[in-house]
Amino acid sequence: MDEIIKNKNIFIQYSPSILKNFSSKLFNIDYISKEGLIKSEVTGRGKTFEIEINGERFFLKHYIRGGFAAKITYDKYYFDSIAATRSVKEYNFLNSLFKKGLPVPRPAALQVVTNKFTYTADLITCKISNEGTLYDFIVNEKMDSNLWSSLGDTLEKFCNEKVYHSDLNAKNILIDRENNFYLVDFDNSYFFYKRELFKKSIRRLEKSLSKIDNYKKEIKDIIKEF
Ligand SMILES: Nc1ncnc2c1ncn2[C@@H]1O[C@H](COP(=O)(O)OP(=O)(O)O)[C@@H](O)[C@H]1O
Ligand SMILES: [Mg+2]
Repeated sequence: MDEIIKNKNIFIQYSPSILKNFSSKLFNIDYISKEGLIKSEVTGRGKTFEIEINGERFFLKHYIRGGFAAKITYDKYYFDSIAATRSVKEYNFLNSLFKKGLPVPRPAALQVVTNKFTYTADLITCKISNEGTLYDFIVNEKMDSNLWSSLGDTLEKFCNEKVYHSDLNAKNILIDRENNFYLVDFDNSYFFYKRELFKKSIRRLEKSLSKIDNYKKEIKDIIKEF
């Protein structure tokens, strides 16, 4: 069972079985930086930190706005209810996907900080040990026909479970040592009722792949299947 901490304008939910000595300070970048807990950082839209807690690795993501809204506010979202916040939705969605046995990171903790009409949000997930993203594999010419078909099988699993990924791209797909594929970054994603939505995520993936130099159209065959 998850634990919940409510303190004035802060809402935290975490899994005590995953994070044994949980501290809300884990969401504080100054603190984790001073304590030497940051092991690496990935710069995408915002910054995602790989952190070490009691010898285990996690990823800490601060939700950043994209598109037009980003010009007005960097990380603040309009607050409606705790249940409707980005971190709560992604945390719950990842939990359902993980319980279905889909290859996704296990969620460990989330935070929502409200301020009048707005909030900021953070999420901590368990690290998926990996050898790189699909993007890295294509750039380094490490993709072969087995890997492409393994990616196809993985996508099919998500399609069968009616998972719509709102930002399927080559950097949100990870590959491990045993050539297993994982999907990450389920912000704004949900279970679809129309299969057409899955095609939409595949088209998004194809668009991201077409921008990579070494990409040789292998994905076309996979796409035909959806
Ligand atoms: N649980 C995880 N395990 C391993 N790598 C992760 C994990 N979560 C995020 N990452 C890495 O960090 C990157 C950025 O995280 P992501 O959730 O995609 O945030 P953003 O919204 O910035 O794209 C991912 O593309 C992936 O390389
Ligand atoms: Mg991402």
